[in-house]
Amino acid sequence: MTTTGGVELKRGLNGVYLDNTLISYIDGNIGKLLYRGYDIHDLAEKSTFEEVLYLLMYGSLPTKDQLQKHEAFMRENRAVPPQIFQVVELTKEAHPMDVLRTAVSALSAFDKEVDDFSPDATRRKGLRLTGQAATILAGLFRIRKGLKPVPPSKTLNHAGNFLYMMFDKNPDPDEMKLMDVDFILHTDHSTNASAFAARVTASTLADLHCAVVSGIATLKGPLHGGAAEAVMKMSMDIGKPERAEEYVKELISRGGRIMGFGHRVYRAEDPRAQHLRERARVLGERRGQPEWFQILQAVVKAMEPYQKRGIFVNVDFYAGAVYHLLNIPEDLFIPIFALGRIPGYAVQVLEQFEHNQLIRPLLNYIGPMDLQYVPMDQRR
Ligand code: SDX
Repeated sequence: MTTTGGVELKRGLNGVYLDNTLISYIDGNIGKLLYRGYDIHDLAEKSTFEEVLYLLMYGSLPTKDQLQKHEAFMRENRAVPPQIFQVVELTKEAHPMDVLRTAVSALSAFDKEVDDFSPDATRRKGLRLTGQAATILAGLFRIRKGLKPVPPSKTLNHAGNFLYMMFDKNPDPDEMKLMDVDFILHTDHSTNASAFAARVTASTLADLHCAVVSGIATLKGPLHGGAAEAVMKMSMDIGKPERAEEYVKELISRGGRIMGFGHRVYRAEDPRAQHLRERARVLGERRGQPEWFQILQAVVKAMEPYQKRGIFVNVDFYAGAVYHLLNIPEDLFIPIFALGRIPGYAVQVLEQFEHNQLIRPLLNYIGPMDLQYVPMDQRR
C-alpha cells in the first residue's frame, strides 16, 4: 500500500523477508514444510521430538551416539528450583500462559548460563527450558488441584514425561506417541509472530530467557497460538455435527473467523494438520467420544467453499480435540503449543545471534507537524 507521501507500507510485514534462514522452509502455495531440509511428513511419522530438536539445534540428524547423549542431557535437565513452584503457587489463578511466561522469566534468576551467549550455551539453555517448561506446566495443573507436583521422570521421553508429571501414572504408549507427534508439529514455523518476537528481542542482544518470554507472551493471542483453545470452545458451542453449517455461516456473516482455519502463509492445507486428523479420530473412538471429530469434520465440510479463497485447516484445528480427549483442560492448550515451540524459539535465537543485526523497522508518521506549545492558562 503506497501512502500519499509515496512511502510503501507493508502492514503486518505481509510478504516481507527479514533475512536468510537455514532452519525451516515453507511453501504456502503447496502446503510444504521442511525442518533443516527434511519434510515434516517424514519427521512426524518417522522421527521423535528429541531427534527433531537435535536436527534443529545442530543442523543434521544425529548419529546413535549423539542422540543418546542428547536424550540423556534432556532427561537430566527437567527439574526446576523449588522457588519456581512458589511462583506458580502465587500466580496459579492466572491464565496458564501467564503463569508459564512468569515462571520461565523467574528461571533466568537460577540459570548459571543466563549471560552466556555462546552457541553451545544457547543450545543447552534452549533444551533446559524445553524440559523445565513441561515441568512448570504439569506442576501448575496439579498445584491448582491442590496436589503436589510430580518430580520429572529420568527414564521417559519428553512427551511421556509430560503426561507422567500431569497424571502421576505411566502414560499409555499410543498417547505418548500422539503427544510426541504434536510436539514435533509445533516446534518451528519460521517467522511466525512469536518466533519473530523472540528474534526482535534477541536482536538487541537480550538473553535467551528474555527472547523466550517474548515468544510465550506473543503466542498467547487467539490469532496465533490461542486457536486450539478457541476451536474446542467452538466445537462445544456447535454441540452436534448437524449444527456446524449454520454455525459457520452465521459466524462468518458477522465478520467472525473460524478458529483453526486460515493462515498468513498457507494457501493450501497446512501440512501439519493431517498428522493430527487421523489420530484425533482414532483417539475419539478409543475414548468413546467420536462426536468431537464428527463436529470438526462437519466444520471442514461447511468451510469447503472457502478453499477457493485459500482458507484451509491449520495445525491448531485438530490439536484441541486431541488435548481434550487426553483429559487436558482447555486453558492448557495454548501452553502445550508453547511446550513444542520453545525449542523453536531457541533455534531462531541461535541463528539470529550468528549474524545479528538490530531489528528496527519504521512507522510512517502522518500526524501534524511543528505545533506551537500552548501554556496551560491559554488552553480552551
Ligand atoms: C498459527 O504464522 C504462523 O506460522 C503461525 C502458526 C505457527 O506454527 O506458528 O502456523 C500457528 O498461528 C496458525 C493460525 C492459528 N490462528 C487461527 O486459526 C485463527 C483463525 N485464523 C485467522 O484469524 C487468520 O487466518 C490468520 C490470522 C491466521 C491469518 O490471517 P491473515 O493472513 O492476516 O489474513 P486476513 O485475516 O486478512 O484474512 C484474509 C481474508 C479475510 O477476508 P476479507 O476480509 O479479505 O474478505 O480471509 C478471511 C478474512 O475474513 N479469513 C477467514 C479466516 N481466515 C482468513 N475467514 C473466516 N475464518 C478464518 N479463519
